[in-house]
Amino acid sequence: MEEHRGPNLNDLSDLCTPWCVHVAATLRIADHIAVGITDIDGLAAAAGCDAGVLHSLLGHLVGKGLFEEPAPGRFALNETAQGLLNPAQRLGLDLDGIGGRFAHAWGTLLAYVRTGQPAYREIFGLPFWEDLDAHPDIAANFDALIGPVGHGAPTPEFQITGGWESVRTVVDVGGGTGALLAEILRARPEVRGTLVDFPRTVAHSGEISPSGAASVADRVTAVGQSFFDPLPAGADLYLLKKVLNNWPDREATAILSRCAEAARPAAARPAGRVVVLGSVSPDGAPRRLVLEMVLLGGKQRTVSEFRELARVAGLEVSAAGQQSSGAFVVECRPL
Ligand SMILES: C[S@@+](CC[C@H](N)C(=O)[O-])C[C@H]1O[C@@H](n2cnc3c(N)ncnc32)[C@H](O)[C@@H]1O
Repeated sequence: MEEHRGPNLNDLSDLCTPWCVHVAATLRIADHIAVGITDIDGLAAAAGCDAGVLHSLLGHLVGKGLFEEPAPGRFALNETAQGLLNPAQRLGLDLDGIGGRFAHAWGTLLAYVRTGQPAYREIFGLPFWEDLDAHPDIAANFDALIGPVGHGAPTPEFQITGGWESVRTVVDVGGGTGALLAEILRARPEVRGTLVDFPRTVAHSGEISPSGAASVADRVTAVGQSFFDPLPAGADLYLLKKVLNNWPDREATAILSRCAEAARPAAARPAGRVVVLGSVSPDGAPRRLVLEMVLLGGKQRTVSEFRELARVAGLEVSAAGQQSSGAFVVECRPL
């Protein structure tokens, strides 16, 4: 008989393990063990849950290599379980926070694949961004997850044609809590920046990242507005990082149009440029299903697809390529 090669179908389709990991993270089991509560009754009491079911759940995870059970009903952290103490992992896995939104959104995958339309609202009653508006705690979780707590300090090291010397003003469109903008300003003392995002998000720009936007505060203006509304005009550079990949073509075109309008030359002012990070791939790159598609109907675009979108929005792609940092950077100029 021919030997089976490749991944095992049962392992690929196992839903038990990911849910057990999420539940263990939500119940802070690793944290309780880290402070010395190791027996199953103590863990269940600390977590406020059923001891018998928790025992089975942890037993399953021990079998998968997460946690150890050195004696029956007594649990310990191994290296993998130590990862659950990491605040970034907690944010992404906590079913009571943004982790729950992400986890349950996968339950809409069949509807999304059938229709091509995200079905997030079928579970949460509202589309994703409106759901965050309605739930400030979850929104703050999301902001923290995409900020330095979740994704680490962003690198400002991406190159632009002709270098940064001619850039004095940057608008970070959908810039979250401002971590990248703060790094750009810290690296380039001659540059001033404007952070555009939802009012509730820019309100956290100093708070979530005390060493971030706040420390360059005298050179940052935070503007709480929608990026579907006219943007602050006349900057040298409009940055869109991991924004366009969250939107279908119609909305992505509208965001690019707002950037094109703001970057257009005026009386005594040359045109600005629009720089896109984290949303475009080289032509021929393999297609992958990613969470923002399921949540938002967004998509990663190839350079050719993006070029067409940009043209409709009044922009011409002037440069596109992979840089030594690994980032794929696209530059556009108003037509
Ligand atoms: C995936 S995050 C990227 C954040 C940041 N650019 C980064 O790379 O970390 C997308 C951002 O778009 C913002 N956003 C979504 N819809 C928006 C809107 N209509 N107006 C302004 N910002 C919006 C979100 O609040 C979020 O900060």
